[in-house]
Amino acid sequence: MWADLDEQYLEQILRNLIENAIKYTDEGVVAVSTGTAEGRVYAEVEDTGIGIDEAFLPDLFEEFRQESRGRSRTYEENGLGLGISARLADQMNGAIRIETEKHKGSRFRVEFPRSSEPAEAGAEG
Ligand SMILES: Nc1ncnc2c1ncn2[C@@H]1O[C@H](COP(=O)(O)OP(=O)(O)O)[C@@H](O)[C@H]1O
Ligand SMILES: [Mg+2]
Repeated sequence: MWADLDEQYLEQILRNLIENAIKYTDEGVVAVSTGTAEGRVYAEVEDTGIGIDEAFLPDLFEEFRQESRGRSRTYEENGLGLGISARLADQMNGAIRIETEKHKGSRFRVEFPRSSEPAEAGAEG
């Protein structure tokens, strides 16, 4: 199955998701996988980390928003990663979906519509 993607955009999205997963997981695992579902192509980053409170989910993709800000700056960064990632996914007609449970972990899936198989090299023109 194929998707028409910008390599650098995809790389930046995955780097953001993987860095978050590692940063917000003290113990357990971070797993990356890919697959297809309902005619879409996806990559998924799953962790057994701190999870995200349901109340914070609407702010998740807002730039400069961090769940732990205000109380303690335990986790250094700027709160831009997910906002940028969502915009990059949108540029490729994709979307980021989240399943998370506080203190259990999170799963971020970035998914894209499938495209037809690219023409073979040399077949164009
Ligand atoms: N895998 C994750 N587990 C728990 N919380 C997360 C995870 N990914 C993102 N978050 C929460 O979403 C916020 C925004 O993420 P992001 O935009 O990447 O900002 P940053 O990583 O700079 O803090 C984080 O500050 C954190 O509160
Ligand atoms: Mg980040």
